[in-house]
Amino acid sequence: MRAATIACVLASATLSLCAEEQAPLVGSSHQASAWSDNDAPSYRSELLSLHKALIETESISGTEHDVGEVLVQYLADLGYTTQIQPVPPRNNTPADKDRFNVLAWRAGIRHDPKVMLSSHIDVVPPHIPYGIDDGDITKETMIRGRGSVDAKASVAAMIIALDELLKEGKVDGDKLVMLFVVGEEVSGDGMIEFSNAVANKEFPYQLDAVIFGEPTESKLACGHKGALFCDVTAKGFPGHSGYPWLGKSANELMIRAFAKIFDTDLGSSELFGNTTVNVGRFNGGVASNVIPEFASVGMGIRVAIGPEESGAHIVQEKVEAIFKEISEDAFDLQCTPGYGSVGANCDVDGFDTIVVNYGTDIPNFKGDHTRYLYGPGNILVAHGANENLTVADLETAVEDYQKLILHALKQ
Ligand SMILES: *[C@@H]1O[C@H](CO)[C@@H](O)[C@H](O)[C@H]1NC(C)=O
Ligand SMILES: *[C@@H]1O[C@H](CO)[C@@H](O)[C@H](O)[C@H]1NC(C)=O
Repeated sequence: MRAATIACVLASATLSLCAEEQAPLVGSSHQASAWSDNDAPSYRSELLSLHKALIETESISGTEHDVGEVLVQYLADLGYTTQIQPVPPRNNTPADKDRFNVLAWRAGIRHDPKVMLSSHIDVVPPHIPYGIDDGDITKETMIRGRGSVDAKASVAAMIIALDELLKEGKVDGDKLVMLFVVGEEVSGDGMIEFSNAVANKEFPYQLDAVIFGEPTESKLACGHKGALFCDVTAKGFPGHSGYPWLGKSANELMIRAFAKIFDTDLGSSELFGNTTVNVGRFNGGVASNVIPEFASVGMGIRVAIGPEESGAHIVQEKVEAIFKEISEDAFDLQCTPGYGSVGANCDVDGFDTIVVNYGTDIPNFKGDHTRYLYGPGNILVAHGANENLTVADLETAVEDYQKLILHALKQ
């Protein structure tokens, strides 16, 4: 046995996804640990190489061009038909490169997809380099870096899951398509662009089911909360702080309004709990001895009630009524369209279930397809400095995506 073998997943000039296999060294302590992990699936090095290549390519929302190229090249080399869908620039700076969604399928002559696998290729800032534990790779090996969980773990696991099923002849490639979108972490502009293209028949798809990849701790999500984001401004009247009755404090109005909002039941449900409010940004006033003329708040509401189309609107009306009650004319609200709680199908044998509080692209893709939401890794580390998961998490996701694909095709 050679001390080390180089396993090149791809022989591509633009992508060198070569993993150095940790082959056991005869007579060394490596042997025992390598042998103890002979439960490693055959696709391990391919999965880890793809996951690594995706994380190493920075792709903070707006700058997804390069990771899109990596993905297109990778999928083309595996023999998939790929198609890119341009998405307008997000920042409009001269440095902006084209960004695009990536579609891929293993087509015969009758490509008529019924099930779609989808996740996103953008990440939140800042970029954190790829890292992996030293030593032999086992199921416990930890992988770190921005996107290692959200959502490049889902992207890599989906691709490998489908590719293995196709290689084993367990599914018909004509019935499946993969979609990897940009912009999920900011406005969902990538998925909205795709949804519009399906609506106007640019993509003539009649999908029965979509499997969305986001971190759910390897559980099948029964749904997620809705969301509503608003910029609130309050306009007062300035004056000397010693004579507050001569002015009108924008900060005081804001504080009174939010005290009331926090104490008000904005709607709850058994599945999703309470609607919650985050005052994420609060600015107001100019000096401690001046009555503030102006205050502004960036507010994020997680909506626990449906329906998906109008749940956020119901919450917005309650909040607006409170602002009106505090002051008839001082407040102005600019809100995103928002959406109510989002249901997903979690009735599949062999899965633990979960409900999550974050937003996804699910509501951005219109249609009456069945939705599934599943992905490896924990949301609580996903946007943090300690974003990480284990090799076991990735491999479990491959198996679970395969179960979901087979289940969705049977529906
Ligand atoms: C939900 O809000 C109610 C009050 O409206 C409170 O009693 C309850 O503890 C809250 N539940 C959670 C899970 O925070
Ligand atoms: C890795 O992620 C887990 C959550 O899955 C978290 O509890 C843990 O603190 C993280 N570890 C490191 C070293 O970042």
